[in-house]
Amino acid sequence: LARGVTEPDLAGRHVVISAGGTREPLDPVRFLGNRSSGKQGYALARTAAARGARVTLIAANTTGLPDPAGVDVVPVGTAVELREAVLKATRDADAVVMAAAVADFRPATYATGKIKKKDDQEPEPVALVRNPDVLAEISADRARPGQVIVGFAAETDDVLANGRKKLARKGCDLLVVNEVGERKTFGAEENEAVVLAADGGETPVPHGPKEALADTVWDLVAARLR
Ligand code: CTP
Ligand code: CA
Repeated sequence: LARGVTEPDLAGRHVVISAGGTREPLDPVRFLGNRSSGKQGYALARTAAARGARVTLIAANTTGLPDPAGVDVVPVGTAVELREAVLKATRDADAVVMAAAVADFRPATYATGKIKKKDDQEPEPVALVRNPDVLAEISADRARPGQVIVGFAAETDDVLANGRKKLARKGCDLLVVNEVGERKTFGAEENEAVVLAADGGETPVPHGPKEALADTVWDLVAARLR
């Protein structure tokens, strides 16, 4: 069992976790992406499995990370693919944790052949369109009564105030907020965060391994499932 946990308190529960970062293709060889490593989502998957849950891990571009033992891994590429996989897995889920960095925009068009530069011509600007907001969608239209939904947010300034606003806007139950900066968080083994709850709760998580933050998230989820 996970550190400090004496009971398989997620036994009989199905939890869905999204991890990694989506990639939005411009052409067959290029994409718009982000720096999310997927490590926090994988730590959430390992700790949930250790606490007895059935785990579905929707993994966006996480090649290089080993599949956690006993976890159902669903690989996805784009935000639209991630949405499909999350909606499907969430139908019978007790809890959903959106740890993935989902691209807010995607290129408006996809070139089926490689985009070529032209002599003496400046490049065309890249037109973008909005991607669906998966967290807001599953929170507004819960697949099951009592389903617990958790979001993640990385903020650079006014971390708590922006976190509270985002929690209200998304309509989820918990929002894990961490401060990012030049040398913080991306790809790191450790994390530091505050978990904000829709009921007003605020749980600080000191700097430590991503497993420790994951266990705090599951403690808060398990308390809401009881
Ligand atoms: N998220 C999502 N779908 C999107 C964008 C984000 O489901 N299209 C989820 C992320 O997985 C994360 C949470 O929403 O759990 C917060 O993501 P964040 O990028 O911080 O929120 P945004 O509403 O996109 O706000 P911002 O403009 O600050 O990027
Ligand atoms: Ca965003």
